[in-house]
Amino acid sequence: MIGIKVIGLGKSIPTRCVTNNEIASLVDTSDEWIKTRTGIEKRHIAVTETTHELATRSALEALKDSNLEAEALDLVIVATVSADTAMPSTASLVAKAIGANHATCFDLSAACSGFIFASEVAMSLMKQSGYQNALVIGAEVLSSRLDWTDRGTCVIFGDGAGAVIYQISHEENQVLSIEIGTDPQGAELICLPIQTEKNTFFKGEIKRPVISMNGRQVYAFSTSKVPTSIMQVISRGQIKVEDIDWFILHQANSRIIDSVAQRLDVPKERFFKNISEYGNTSAASIPMALYDVKNQLKSGDKVILCGFGAGLTWGTMLLEWH
Ligand code: ACO
Repeated sequence: MIGIKVIGLGKSIPTRCVTNNEIASLVDTSDEWIKTRTGIEKRHIAVTETTHELATRSALEALKDSNLEAEALDLVIVATVSADTAMPSTASLVAKAIGANHATCFDLSAACSGFIFASEVAMSLMKQSGYQNALVIGAEVLSSRLDWTDRGTCVIFGDGAGAVIYQISHEENQVLSIEIGTDPQGAELICLPIQTEKNTFFKGEIKRPVISMNGRQVYAFSTSKVPTSIMQVISRGQIKVEDIDWFILHQANSRIIDSVAQRLDVPKERFFKNISEYGNTSAASIPMALYDVKNQLKSGDKVILCGFGAGLTWGTMLLEWH
């Protein structure tokens, strides 16, 4: 048997906390609107921290939590759409900073589903290529990619990083089932261009690359795709929806989480939320939420992790916690 277990968790957030009222002094919105339409009360914004710094801090905490030396890591994958550099990868910068000198490193882009995509890739490589220990990080500084005059997006996003260390096990398996998917027909519903410079022959206007989102259509996609994917993963794991103890969904909007609970006919209390504190931290949101809920998890608990977002992408994973 080749199983996978989770051996360490870490989290890092920027120091600066920004309230809804502060955002309301920038754009035509209100604390009341943001709270009732999204569940967000504040978010942490990286004023001085960079994406790879947040990623590194979360990695160091996950290493400490796992009692593993960085030298024992075989693989580092960072899921991000807001890397500081296109090259080197954020993963290489993290590996350098923590001393993971034997790890294969790369970044992965799947927006808010990025952590689940990166977990699936890491676990496949572990099973097929013999890697023993993999560090998977979701890290974002999307505040630097926002149009701070667009109230449709600037109220939603926050910055942060979360890290998970997976290890091969021949005795136990914590990852019971996983699926990732994409609906490319919705590819342009959330966009973040990356090209900031044109070549010397370009004479037009150069726009600063910022996030644009069709919130309503993404909302409709999320509330229909997420319950379907969760049911698919649960049935593959050969258990029932009522056997799931915790649902940890990407923290995009509190109303999306409530709608999924209603569609699955599961009490809302089983759906973990920390969106009020951090907003939507994209690829970081699931590992950050797992970190925040860990003290409430009991051995044997069945946990669903589910990400969804730009691409359009989704990814769902069923864990048995130990
Ligand atoms: N403050 C006040 N009013 C606002 C704001 C705001 N910040 N934003 C929009 N409005 C207004 C609109 O202009 C509109 O006014 P109108 O009716 O006069 O035209 C009204 O509020 C309703 O607008 P909607 O866009 O329908 O607002 P909605 O209730 O859908 O909430 C939101 C918008 C929060 C963006 C929601 O659609 C949402 O959460 N969508 C999903 C986002 C998501 O899941 N993203 C995926 C991950 S992101 C990633 O992958 C990187």
